[in-house]
Amino acid sequence: MSQTLCPCRAFLPSVLAMTEIALTVQQTARPAGFPTADHFRFAESPVPAPAPGTALVENLLWSVDPYHREMMDGDFALNAPLEGRTLGRVVASRTAELPEGEIVFHRQGWRTHAVVRPEEVRRLPHHPGVPLSAYLSVLGGTGLTAYVALTRIARLREGEDVFVSGAAGGVGTAAGRFARLLGAGRVTGSAGTPQKVRYLTEQVGYDAAFDYRTAPVAGLLAEAAPTGIDVFVDNVGGDHLGAAIGALRERGRVVRVGTISQYNTPDAPPVLFNHADVVEKSLRVEGFLVKDHQDAQDELYDFAVPHLRSGALTADETVVDGFERIVEAFLLMLRGGNTGKILVRATP
Ligand SMILES: NC(=O)c1ccc[n+]([C@@H]2O[C@H](COP(=O)([O-])OP(=O)(O)OC[C@H]3O[C@@H](n4cnc5c(N)ncnc54)[C@H](OP(=O)(O)O)[C@@H]3O)[C@@H](O)[C@H]2O)c1
Repeated sequence: MSQTLCPCRAFLPSVLAMTEIALTVQQTARPAGFPTADHFRFAESPVPAPAPGTALVENLLWSVDPYHREMMDGDFALNAPLEGRTLGRVVASRTAELPEGEIVFHRQGWRTHAVVRPEEVRRLPHHPGVPLSAYLSVLGGTGLTAYVALTRIARLREGEDVFVSGAAGGVGTAAGRFARLLGAGRVTGSAGTPQKVRYLTEQVGYDAAFDYRTAPVAGLLAEAAPTGIDVFVDNVGGDHLGAAIGALRERGRVVRVGTISQYNTPDAPPVLFNHADVVEKSLRVEGFLVKDHQDAQDELYDFAVPHLRSGALTADETVVDGFERIVEAFLLMLRGGNTGKILVRATP
């Protein structure tokens, strides 16, 4: 299910139409709390020429991600190019390994053009019928995170009941769809609006869902999953984590994927939960980083591509048109404006 947001020219520098100009987004200041457009600027430079052994890539699709918010606190250098997952086309090459016209994945995001070495890029596999955007959403790092969470970390077994927080986002929609395809029992999700809750049950295949903003999460979860859960895929942390620990059955697993409830509120109070539950129910709480599981990428293709082709699996995406809207797209995602994986697409 793909949603496209209408173009807005608010961020469009007047020179964007000139193909000899490259644009690069830079962070200009550290935010306290939610970032704004004032924490970024668009820098112009001539389109770079590839040196021997490199190729020039014109970027086509960009991923903006919650981890970028974490990087804004220190890992992103100020007034310098930012990193991010990106797909682009080789438009000039001085290496036989990257022929012109090839579509590649690389991490020089937040810019219109990148000069890359062959070892810095991943060539995309050819899966006829699979849209390009899927390689940044359900088949990309987002889908891989959901797949690793369920298979390697939770070791989900058929019939087990799953709860996913942040269920209407990129990882959350993929986790719900994968859980269903892997034979999970009852699949419950939480999200931040009534529209998203409906989307989860009507489109994504969740059995039950609730709007976490309407009441304390523990009560909402008890109503939505009245007999408890076996696996919690946690994209959010905070109240969700405390509630899920209470709802888990014996030998339940918490997969700590992310903590988005705290990225913009670092002073949030610590999570409260009954520590004895972890012992008395023999729970396992385990986090992971998808970068340590890149070896599962081919397994994800083997699992998901046939389902994508048959229509049993859909890539949930919110696509924002125009590189000039990349900052807007990032800020929108932090405020919950996306359903599925948020992507930015170059205007042709
Ligand atoms: N471990 C890893 O390697 C790894 C890899 C990828 C992603 N992650 C993590 O996975 C999580 C989801 O990432 P994603 O890329 O799929 O992003 P996403 O879920 O598509 O987008 C972020 C969503 O977070 C929700 N949100 C924002 N503030 C919130 C709050 N205070 N409480 C609850 N929900 C809130 C919003 O939805 P609502 O409208 O529902 O609030 C928003 O749509 C993030 O925590 C991210 O850091 C981890």
